[in-house]
Amino acid sequence: MTPGRILLTQAQIRARVRQLGRSITRHYGGQSPHGKSPLFLGVMNGALFFLGDLLRAVDLDHVEISCVRLASYVGARSTGNLRGLDALGDSIAGRHILIVDDILDTGRTLSALAARLKKLGAADVKICVLLEKRRTHEIPVKPDWTGFKIADQFVVGYGLDYDGRYRTLKQIRVLDQNAALDPPPL
Ligand code: IMP
Ligand code: MG
Repeated sequence: MTPGRILLTQAQIRARVRQLGRSITRHYGGQSPHGKSPLFLGVMNGALFFLGDLLRAVDLDHVEISCVRLASYVGARSTGNLRGLDALGDSIAGRHILIVDDILDTGRTLSALAARLKKLGAADVKICVLLEKRRTHEIPVKPDWTGFKIADQFVVGYGLDYDGRYRTLKQIRVLDQNAALDPPPL
């Protein structure tokens, strides 16, 4: 399988991340009831680029950053088995947390993470995803901020990978599922 057509260009991603940054800034800014320093919690590795660009696009005095490493995918398939939740530390209690993830697919990752954060005593948990697949999420999750809604297809680039590959593509591309079936060139 190889990266196929471009779904989102660098310019489209950049413009949308700026908008998200402005909206998140308004929400966590001094006036809101959540005017406490938020903790941006990036879900690694997929959210690496998005988290970095989003942090540059927000304008808040006190933001803390943390990362959690979660994995449920093998190749292009969700295993339903989420690893990494235990690593979340004690720094969660009483915090206003913004989970930052690359993509909402089945909803398992984000619902499990949000539930775990609440259990650890988070005062507030919000979710920001760059992409949301238009499908019935197996577990209902409603992100507070969504960059783009996309068709139910496997995408790579801008942090999203296929078995560790293609993360560093600048654009988001559709993974060409048929490419592997093509006969090799003679
Ligand atoms: P969920 O638990 O099924 O919602 O899956 C969420 C996680 O699976 C995301 O954080 C991604 O890491 C990964 N994932 C889901 N769909 C895709 C995709 O199309 N491309 C790359 N990774 C994906
Ligand atoms: Mg992920």
